[in-house]
Amino acid sequence: MSWKATVVTLFPEMFPGPLGQSLAGRALEKDLWNCETKDMRSFGLGRHNAVDDTPFGGGAGMVMRPDVVDAALASVDHAESLPVIYLTPRGRPLAQADVRRYVAGPGVVLLCGRYEGVDERVLQARAVEQVSIGDYILSGGELAALVLLDACVRLLPGVMGSAESGEEESFSGGLLEYPHYTRPAEWQGRVVPEVLLSGNHAAIAAWRREQSEMATRERRPDLWAAYDAHLNRNMVAGGDLSTSRRH
Ligand code: ADE
Repeated sequence: MSWKATVVTLFPEMFPGPLGQSLAGRALEKDLWNCETKDMRSFGLGRHNAVDDTPFGGGAGMVMRPDVVDAALASVDHAESLPVIYLTPRGRPLAQADVRRYVAGPGVVLLCGRYEGVDERVLQARAVEQVSIGDYILSGGELAALVLLDACVRLLPGVMGSAESGEEESFSGGLLEYPHYTRPAEWQGRVVPEVLLSGNHAAIAAWRREQSEMATRERRPDLWAAYDAHLNRNMVAGGDLSTSRRH
């Protein structure tokens, strides 16, 4: 049984889309995962298969009806035993820890909204997780669902060549990754940091850690604060107060 993504959407043609290519595409061909869609329009009501209506309380745009969304979700096999995830800018920000949790299970159900959103009651009734991929507004959840799936599929067993390449990178250790260099050693007058050519593995590891810490401190003060707090906690817990970084 391969890891299964079921996408509930008004635009089933958008899947697997770019995930039919490259790493995810090869994994799809090898049956390491599979991608099914449920066309929400086919659960629409009346002559026009209506899926949405005007918002109670007034305001712009249209809201997806709870009965239609519920019928679409009810058509997904074993949805009760899978995380059902609604992609929305109102959601909790997606993090690598969530991706690991999704990959550890048998699959996910992804609900993609268009219009102003989905009636809140169906989200509550079905204990739907609300997830955002960042602080910007997309025109619908489909691209966000593709992003979430890409992040999951690359972690599935057998998808990536070397076991370590999946996790030894930005975020897994709570830091951004160090910068990378390859040949030529000099390019347009720019040289590769000398330590990387030294063959001194301890020095290379120390330089990389320092670069990771610098990048994180400058670019992601939020990640840095969490990392720093974690370091301090461990040092205090270990009784090593003399070298504590607490300041
Ligand atoms: N739908 C629209 N914008 C989104 C976002 N930023 N994240 C997840 N789903 C979305």
